[in-house]
Amino acid sequence: VQAEKDGYKHFMLKEIFEQPRTIEDTFRGRIYPDEGRVYIEEVKLKLKEEYIKNISNIYIVACGTSYHSGLVSKFLFESFAKIPTEVDIASEFRYRDVILDEKTLVVVISQSGETADTLAALRLAKSKGCQTLAVCNVVGSSISREAMYVIYTHCGPEIGVASTKAFTGQVTALYVLALDWAYKREALTIKELKKYLKELWEIPLKINEFLKNAESVHDIAKVFANKRDFLYLGRHINYPVALEGALKIKEISYIHAEGYAAGEMKHGPIALIDKSMPIVAIVIKGRIYEKIISNIEEAKARGGTIIAVADQSDKEIGNKSNYVIYVPETDEFVSPLMTVIPLQLLAYYISLILGCDVDQPRNLAKSVTVE
Ligand code: G6P
Repeated sequence: VQAEKDGYKHFMLKEIFEQPRTIEDTFRGRIYPDEGRVYIEEVKLKLKEEYIKNISNIYIVACGTSYHSGLVSKFLFESFAKIPTEVDIASEFRYRDVILDEKTLVVVISQSGETADTLAALRLAKSKGCQTLAVCNVVGSSISREAMYVIYTHCGPEIGVASTKAFTGQVTALYVLALDWAYKREALTIKELKKYLKELWEIPLKINEFLKNAESVHDIAKVFANKRDFLYLGRHINYPVALEGALKIKEISYIHAEGYAAGEMKHGPIALIDKSMPIVAIVIKGRIYEKIISNIEEAKARGGTIIAVADQSDKEIGNKSNYVIYVPETDEFVSPLMTVIPLQLLAYYISLILGCDVDQPRNLAKSVTVE
């Protein structure tokens, strides 16, 4: 078993470090930034340009970490492809009176392709006459067989119960898909398409660069491992990343954590902030940068300890937060692939320090095949 871990102490750590490669495996052969071309073999013949142009809306349905990658991709389908997009939790979606018709595309996301609620949501969508597309990691899984179209993430087997590389694989696949459709729907110019493809192309290198300093996250973990609660803040496309960071820490270190949209903090969580509350905030450059800066200033003024995940080039952030985890600069639309990495590592190191079972956390299963 040790051999399968390639010398890493846990599968989760191995899978975190694999991400530069697995992200590349997901986009390799599918994107050509110089030519501005996207080529998704599995759906090439099936997803006709005419159909893509006429999609009226998208419903994305998933559970757990896959739900979070769905939330990220909502921004991509809206901002790039200009398609109205909703995201729902599979166990909710299947019992609602969702309004669906043939022009609705239902996208289900599942690493395992076996999650019972997601499979049921897929079947419901099909029964309503919707077109269905699955984003799966496991080839030949139930969901990948039953969906009309499937796009594989090519991440290789994910063993750690807490999902890491599957998340970045899903975001990568959906990013490529949203860009392809954006171009086909004439919502993006070729120049923009090339630019965004290039941003993705450069991500593996940037993650590799960041991972060389993984120990700096370990040092922060040492300071905060004994805390009882964490608050994770993000906005816009990094709001789902805040949710994912909080989920990771709950799953493997059993510390209570909440992910929140930073602008919503004043409507509740701000009441919880005191000196014992670490606040992990994603504050990378982008359209909401100034906004989230003022959110962390509010939190700091109430005694909270701010751990910021920020761009390397950010000269100001050091004065506004207590700790900074610097990441290489990325375009905001591709940034979740970068910003999630330190959050995965923070959860990993805290779990390690607390002596928890990193790869097999209590009460959780890798794939939930019952309702
Ligand atoms: C379980 C796993 C999570 C995963 C979720 C959805 O809860 O522990 O890591 O995100 O199921 O699984 P799926 O295979 O459908 O992505």
